Amino acid sequence: MEQALSPLTIKGKKIRVPIIQGGMGVGVSMHPLAAAVAREGGVGIVSSACIDRLVSKRTGKKVNTYDAVYEEMSLSKASGGFAGLNIMVALIKSYADSVRAAIDAGADFIISGAGLPLNLPAIQPPKDTALIPIVSSARALNLICKKWERLGHRPDAVVLEGPLAGGHLGFSTEGITLESNKLENLLPPVKDMAMEHGDIPVIVAGGVYTHDDIVRFLEMGADGVQMGTRFLATEECSATAKYKQAVVNAKESDIMIAQKPASPCGLPFRVIKQSPMVAYPDREPKCNKGYVLTRDDEGKFTQCPAKENNVDYFCICNGLLSSAGYNTDKEKPLYTVGTNASRVDEIVSVETLMHELAGKALAPTR
Ligand SMILES: Cc1cc2nc3c(=O)[nH]c(=O)nc-3n(C[C@H](O)[C@H](O)[C@H](O)COP(=O)(O)O)c2cc1C
Repeated sequence: MEQALSPLTIKGKKIRVPIIQGGMGVGVSMHPLAAAVAREGGVGIVSSACIDRLVSKRTGKKVNTYDAVYEEMSLSKASGGFAGLNIMVALIKSYADSVRAAIDAGADFIISGAGLPLNLPAIQPPKDTALIPIVSSARALNLICKKWERLGHRPDAVVLEGPLAGGHLGFSTEGITLESNKLENLLPPVKDMAMEHGDIPVIVAGGVYTHDDIVRFLEMGADGVQMGTRFLATEECSATAKYKQAVVNAKESDIMIAQKPASPCGLPFRVIKQSPMVAYPDREPKCNKGYVLTRDDEGKFTQCPAKENNVDYFCICNGLLSSAGYNTDKEKPLYTVGTNASRVDEIVSVETLMHELAGKALAPTR
């Protein structure tokens, strides 16, 4: 049954269609996708992961993270609507530059997860940019709120991501299948916690697929939804044609949590098992891109599990860059998806998808 979706307001910004297109790294959600979603009345989100290399390749001019984020944010907003940046906490080296560039470029939102973004408000005064953490529990939201309150800030909204999402997951491998961790069961305590800290809007993510799913979650108390996999299967997304075809071909039994090799970020990571980097893993230590490096004893960024041990860990930077068309001749691609990729059977335009999700018959006109 199609019904109109109520708009979502975050930091005074009234979003006509309460759908946030989730940030998808590496290079999957860039400005062509974000701008298209923004034009349709939702929120378009660019991923900051490895963005310097991707924009350097596109423009033919070597740019750093700050300049690349600034350019992608500006292009995402150029045709109107709301757009923002997703920044993974695990990308420690480029985190602060990504935050500064997004704020300076007038991003509407910064959405940050894959770790707890405890220091996000301390990096630079956010001006009009809304700061939104991603959590997988009420406890995580409480921790973030308490830390941010000490910094004189409060989350402008929160994304609650359940275990059916694509990318890295905020659960232990065992936690993924627990009944108590179903998105439907996580929402009530997170909503209560959000109310306790001042009626923070709650956006749910992970396994939301149809218009009816959206209506159901809004009726349960969510204020909006964030969706990834459905936007991965669009014409405007920047994944390679092979990646998109792998999504169309994927059956339920093809989608799994990578175990060995696994992600060097230390979080469960959902993949299509036929991804070349999973099916035919490299045995040579690679890690020559270095986006997930952590500091050594001397404070230098030198450490990544995939540098020492390519049996237990894949080189996620090279695998995901290849899935976005970078170095495809040299590196094997790695395809991450949400569980619902098995339901995708065609690639559509963002316009078609947004009309379907908003409720075709009642889709608001521009
Ligand atoms: C290809 C892909 C890449 C993703 N990359 C990121 C990322 O870089 N950072 C992040 O916070 N979430 C990432 N996600 C999660 C999405 O933003 C979104 O929250 C999630 O996929 C929602 O679940 P759904 O795919 O079932 O709609 C990714 C998801 C996919 C499918």
